[in-house]
Amino acid sequence: MFKIAGKAGVAVAGVGAGCLAYAGLYEVNAFILRKVQVPMLPEGADPIRLLHISDIHMVPGARKRQRWLAELVQLKPDLVINTGDNLAHRDAVAYVVAGLGDLLRMPGVYVWGSNDYYAPKFKNPLKYIAGPTRLDDKKTLPWPDLDREFKQAGWIDLTHTRETLAIKDTRLGFRGTDDAHVEQDHYASVAGPIDRAECDVSIGVTHSPYRRVIDAMTSDGLDMIITGHTHGGQVCVPGYGALVTNCDLDRGRAKGLSRYKVGDQETWLHVSAGLGTSPYAPIRFACRPEASLLTLTRAG
Ligand SMILES: [Fe+2]
Repeated sequence: MFKIAGKAGVAVAGVGAGCLAYAGLYEVNAFILRKVQVPMLPEGADPIRLLHISDIHMVPGARKRQRWLAELVQLKPDLVINTGDNLAHRDAVAYVVAGLGDLLRMPGVYVWGSNDYYAPKFKNPLKYIAGPTRLDDKKTLPWPDLDREFKQAGWIDLTHTRETLAIKDTRLGFRGTDDAHVEQDHYASVAGPIDRAECDVSIGVTHSPYRRVIDAMTSDGLDMIITGHTHGGQVCVPGYGALVTNCDLDRGRAKGLSRYKVGDQETWLHVSAGLGTSPYAPIRFACRPEASLLTLTRAG
């Protein structure tokens, strides 16, 4: 009896170690480009291609992540949307800039995530699924330096601001917030109904898809909301999906495109699984690191 249990225990430990090795040595760098069509443009509009990148969590040694990121420029998107958590090390700014490379020559918009502000804190990687991520609010990161680089490139910071960009004769009305994960969101500062005289479609951008933010954006009638933060659950169960979202969004929406409804208002919600991880939890399982190419097409 004990012998059987002992053998079973060894087998389970072996499978666990194998999964951990796969998650940390292979999948964490097995980047994919997810392509999504979003039918939301007015009649007669040409398709618009948005490259959504998020949660890069850059550290100086992440060369595979830097190389893969740099290759995304070949997609020639109409606009880059960066939903934050670029940094995971105080020396990472130059590596983010190098990784983005010529993407910075393209039009871009961005918001910040809590990991841009504060350094990650050590946590047992297997405890990722046990609760919200921790940050060291005494160790700040040089996000103002990255902000300078983005602004120099012409990218637009959407934090608590509204901005309208015309792309292929379609006016995209953006509004964004700071990160709800550290309670720095003040959606009220950009809230209000959509002015259709000002824009053809309206897009909300925020790092963490906490319901208080996305509910308010949905209630205001936005056509789409773009977020990151969840890492898609990061450690998922094949056939079941994410176990957590690291916020109060339901786990079925941990990544990808869905319809999100509040009362009689409905919107598109896109959540990126992100490109990186905290350096203290460098594993992904059944949840590959990603960027997304969102092609906006006519609603009909
Ligand atoms: Fe993140």
